[in-house]
Amino acid sequence: MSRAVGDLVRVVAPGRVNLIGDHTDYTGGLALPMAIDLGTTIEGVVQADRVMLRSVDQAEPADLALSIDDPAVLEPSWARYVGGVVHELRPPFGVSGTVRTTVPIGSGLSSSASLELAVALALGFEGAPLALAELTQRAEQVASGVPCGIMDQLASAAGVEGHALLMNFTTMHVEPVPVPADATIVVIHSGQERALAGTAYGERRAACETAAAHIGPLLDATAESVAAIEDPMIRRRARHVVTENQRVRDFVAAFRAGDLATAGRIMAASHASLRDDFEVSTGPLDALVTRLLGTPGVHGARLTGAGFGGCVVALTEPGALTEGWTVHASAGAHAVPV
Ligand code: GLA
Repeated sequence: MSRAVGDLVRVVAPGRVNLIGDHTDYTGGLALPMAIDLGTTIEGVVQADRVMLRSVDQAEPADLALSIDDPAVLEPSWARYVGGVVHELRPPFGVSGTVRTTVPIGSGLSSSASLELAVALALGFEGAPLALAELTQRAEQVASGVPCGIMDQLASAAGVEGHALLMNFTTMHVEPVPVPADATIVVIHSGQERALAGTAYGERRAACETAAAHIGPLLDATAESVAAIEDPMIRRRARHVVTENQRVRDFVAAFRAGDLATAGRIMAASHASLRDDFEVSTGPLDALVTRLLGTPGVHGARLTGAGFGGCVVALTEPGALTEGWTVHASAGAHAVPV
């Protein structure tokens, strides 16, 4: 679709919650996130050669030219995500307008991914969901300096209403899996802001790469080959990834069978593995998961996303919890006709 200066633009991009499969995406593994009904909207007008976005949540606007060398140094800091997209997309036109989000910022629900996808669409990106996710993943990496995987951006791009998304990060295949009608998904903040997770995230990724250099792709690895890794830290990291991939498969089977009790037990096992083997949980996240697992009507709970603070996701009977955000699986990022 051709665009011209003065055209109106309206786009929306959802955040995501990951039901199971954390710290697997950058190892070519499996995950089951879903796009949620909390998202970022941009309403604006096409401009010749600037991007000028105001956010209702930020004091300073993101105001930048279309040619930028290093998005990571832009101020205010939220402009880095906007700049990252401009840097990767190199759009022929700019945009001015307003950003609004219902995604809690910096909580592990991919507020930054939803902003990146909204900016890319507002700047006229056209293409398949995977191409949008690849572009915005690169934008996140140049903006934040964190070597993140593609799960968050792909969930926001490929969302399907009423469905979670089974992702295989070796084949990049995405298979929608219906969310059972009696499954309620609640996201609860631990009260702990996510600490600067960048360094620890990079270390986890490097440990997985070391493991794969020893035993081959972790998606194909067996428990025996993991047990043979000599370094105890590398062995624990690999054990998390290999067992987490199997938990994704088992969770999907339970979801398809409508067996929410089993799905919930698998979530609790995932949290324990993220806590003990991958070491990305925290005291507040553990305490919240323990409390939720002891609450009637809660099938399961686990930290969601990178960890180091932020949110927990719980699978519950309808009405079991009165706290947090009850989220529903939503469509992916898209332009809205104006
Ligand atoms: C962050 C990253 C994702 C993924 C998760 C952990 O959200 O952006 O790519 O690695 O952590 O599953």
